[in-house]
Amino acid sequence: MTDELVVPAQAPADVDLDVSLRPRHLSEFVGQERLKEQLSLLLDGARRRGGSADHILLSGPPGLGKTSLAGIVAAELDADLRTTSGPALERPGDLAAILTNVEAGDVLFVDEIHRLPRAVEEILYPAMEDFRLDIVVGKGPGARAIRLPLPPFTLVGATTRTGLITSPLRDRFGFAARLDLYAPAELARILRRSAQLLGVTLDGDGADEVAGRSRGTPRIANRLLKRVRDYAEVRADGTVDGAVARAALALFEVDERGLDKLDRRVVDALCRLFGGGPVGLSTLAVAVGEEPDTVEDVVEPFLIRAGLLARTPRGRVATDAAWRHLGLVAPAPAAAQRLFSS
Ligand SMILES: Nc1ncnc2c1ncn2[C@@H]1O[C@H](COP(=O)(O)OP(=O)(O)OP(=O)(O)O)[C@@H](O)[C@H]1O
Ligand SMILES: [Mg+2]
Repeated sequence: MTDELVVPAQAPADVDLDVSLRPRHLSEFVGQERLKEQLSLLLDGARRRGGSADHILLSGPPGLGKTSLAGIVAAELDADLRTTSGPALERPGDLAAILTNVEAGDVLFVDEIHRLPRAVEEILYPAMEDFRLDIVVGKGPGARAIRLPLPPFTLVGATTRTGLITSPLRDRFGFAARLDLYAPAELARILRRSAQLLGVTLDGDGADEVAGRSRGTPRIANRLLKRVRDYAEVRADGTVDGAVARAALALFEVDERGLDKLDRRVVDALCRLFGGGPVGLSTLAVAVGEEPDTVEDVVEPFLIRAGLLARTPRGRVATDAAWRHLGLVAPAPAAAQRLFSS
């Protein structure tokens, strides 16, 4: 049960939750104010011209609303949304099949676009730039190049790894936006909205308590809300107030700063095993028994934001706050300071 809370990847139950709580319009999408303003300008422009919008690249850690935004783009343009993902497009033909079915004005959402195979990515370049499909049919001397015009469409790409997007691909997006972790007040608003949709009675303290422990991530906030609701229904009178939220989150081992088990393992290893660092990402990942990608994409953005971990050219270091969080005293001076003063 608690395992569900360890790695913020998507469990099947979360997929249903994501779908039912997903904001459908820009006005329902909480936070990311600048991004929303930019996006709404871009979409208004496209609507006025009656054409398709520029291609949009959305990046940021899991659970911050990339898939939701792709749906919103389609809804705001009153367009059909077609969804696929990098790993699903194994061969150029897979993408060609999708592109030949695209209709004028459609929104094509490619999730995990950093995982597109190179040969597939190359089909995407002319499709994005000139709405043209260039494909080679057959092999050897009989091979023929076919060129088909495509209707104008809007590609929305999502990635948790901007660093892995090749520059030719990145350059073909007219608008690239990065989603940031949410502030507690924004998460509290998201929680109030979700509580309403789920029929949960959530008071202000309860919302703040859950928001403060959601790792800056709406998906986690929604997931914690469900656990807290269970607790309120089974062990209290059904209302989620501050006390109920605290008791429920303690039961599920989410600490006051929102660190889950994996976050704590990383901080713990960094301080206790490596004396506060610096230590390389892969060494740290092995020490906690996780993939380096998970540590880098899921754990680190939150720990950096929480001021517990810093990335330096020589590796990851624990901050003084990290030692304090574990109830330990940092060896003076703390590794981070040692590094900057050397
Ligand atoms: N700004 C927001 N306002 C309200 N709810 C949000 C917001 N962002 C995300 N959510 C909620 O969080 C859930 C997860 O969001 P979404 O699936 O869009 O994230 P994602 O960035 O695509 O994650 P992944 O990288 O794992 O695919 C949504 O179903 C929605 O309920
Ligand atoms: Mg998604």
